[in-house]
Amino acid sequence: MTAGPTREAIDPVRFISNRSSGKMGYAVAEAALAAGHSVTLISGPSAITPPGGVRFISVTTSDELHDAVHRAAPKCDVLVMCAAVSDYKPAKVSTQKMKKRKTPFALKLIPTRDILASLPAERRDYLVVGFAAETHDLEMNARKKIHAKNCDLIVANDVSGTDSGMESDRNAVTIFSQQSELKTISRTSKKNIARELVKIISKMSEKCLTKKP
Ligand code: CTP
Repeated sequence: MTAGPTREAIDPVRFISNRSSGKMGYAVAEAALAAGHSVTLISGPSAITPPGGVRFISVTTSDELHDAVHRAAPKCDVLVMCAAVSDYKPAKVSTQKMKKRKTPFALKLIPTRDILASLPAERRDYLVVGFAAETHDLEMNARKKIHAKNCDLIVANDVSGTDSGMESDRNAVTIFSQQSELKTISRTSKKNIARELVKIISKMSEKCLTKKP
C-alpha cells in the first residue's frame, strides 16, 4: 500500500508537493489489516499515525517511493498505489537556500519516473491497483490510465472539490477493471470506501493469484 504525497526538493527549505493527506491510503491499509491481511504501508509525509500492525516504510521523494515499491511489490500479492506522486521535480536541487530576487524567475522542472508504468507488465504475480485523481473527464481519463499503466483495477476519484477527495475525510469513487466499470461508490467516508475496495480486491485476488497461501 502506498499513501500520501511525495516531496521534491528545490533547496534545503523548499519543495514541490501536493495536497494529499494520506487519509485514503491509510484507510485502505487499516481495512486490509482488519480483514486479516499483512500490510506494508509505504508513505510519503503525512500527519497520520500509521495503523498499528503495518510494516511501515517512510519515504519523501518520488525516487525513494519508486525504489521502495520495486523492493516491496514482488513480495506482495497486491500493490495498491494510492500515493499522489509528484509528476515533476526540479532539474537541479540547490544545496544553499535560494535567495529572494526582485525579478521573476523560472524553475526548470523535469518529469519524475512513473512508478506504476515502470513495473513489469508481463508475468507479474501480484495484482496492481492504481488510483486516478481527476478534476474532469473522470471516466475517460481513468480508462486511459488503467491501460497506460497496466493496472488490474483503477479507483477514480474526483479531486476538484473540497468536500470530497484530497484532504477530505470523504471520497466518491468509481472502480474500473481493464474490461468494465465495476462499482461506483457515492460520497461516503474514506473508511467505508476502503472497506469496499478491500472486499473487491480480495475477491479479485482469489480469482487471479495463487502465489501465496
Ligand atoms: N503514479 C505513479 N508514478 C507517478 C505518478 C503517478 O505511479 N510518477 C500513480 C499514482 O500513484 C496513481 C496513478 O499513477 O496510482 C495515477 O496517478 P494520477 O496522479 O491520477 O495520474 P498521473 O499519472 O500523474 O497523470 P495526470 O497527472 O496527467 O492525471
